[in-house]
Amino acid sequence: MSLQGKTILITGASAGIGRACALQLAQQGAHIIALGRRQEALDALAAALPAGQVRTLAGDLNDESFVQKIDALAPELDAFVNNAGVLRYAPILDLTPADNQWMFQTNVLAALRVTQGVARGMVHSKKRGHIVFMSSIAAREVYRLASVYCATKHALSALARSFRIELQGHGIKVTEVAPGMVDTEIRAGSTHPDVLASVATRKFKALTADEVAQAVVYALSAEPNCCPDLIELRPQGSA
Ligand SMILES: NC(=O)c1ccc[n+]([C@@H]2O[C@H](COP(=O)([O-])OP(=O)(O)OC[C@H]3O[C@@H](n4cnc5c(N)ncnc54)[C@H](OP(=O)(O)O)[C@@H]3O)[C@@H](O)[C@H]2O)c1
Repeated sequence: MSLQGKTILITGASAGIGRACALQLAQQGAHIIALGRRQEALDALAAALPAGQVRTLAGDLNDESFVQKIDALAPELDAFVNNAGVLRYAPILDLTPADNQWMFQTNVLAALRVTQGVARGMVHSKKRGHIVFMSSIAAREVYRLASVYCATKHALSALARSFRIELQGHGIKVTEVAPGMVDTEIRAGSTHPDVLASVATRKFKALTADEVAQAVVYALSAEPNCCPDLIELRPQGSA
């Protein structure tokens, strides 16, 4: 299905996977609404695309007044890539209440709040649409040093499946894209020595953000009767 002229909102479009999705979806002719907190990074994304093909909106997804601005955009959306997320790897006994709160607040509660607003807009206006959840291999597996992050992605995956079940009657598709390790900035704040030692012994090469974005393009381009429910992507040799 052609994405030409479709309007697609992407959270976390200022960096990493979200930025790669914005670039590839724009290449397919979609109009992008790119979100992130860093206006300068969003401006750099806009500068990389033809004028008028991307609109940017900077703000924090944990700020209710910002999310209400997203709600207002919902009726014009054809698709939503629910991608923004954060991560801190550390031994479970070393994670602080602030770490736990930050990951659950952003990866679960903010993602849920934004998706509810977008989905209401899709249901009430066009009665169609497509929502992509960027979960993770961590949504189905639990691994050392990633306890709370894994818990947030398990929760996000449960929400994705719930949205799918409840929205299918409204003609809205829900896809979960679940990558393994991707080479982005997301692990920059995970500096615990155990994490650094673990990363140093890794025997595989991380996926690129572009490889994950290809899966998002595939999902959003699928024919109307075809619902890619779950796409898992792993780096070769990481199973
Ligand atoms: N990298 C991996 O190995 C990997 C693997 C599987 C799944 N994922 C998932 O993929 C998604 C994207 O991650 P990434 O690797 O591309 O990370 P990234 O490069 O760190 O990008 C994260 C994006 O989320 C935005 N963001 C974070 N907190 C936000 C907030 N409170 N309000 C608004 N925007 C916020 C950031 O924007 P600003 O900094 O401008 O606010 C940034 O654009 C995440 O959900 C992550 O869990 C990543």
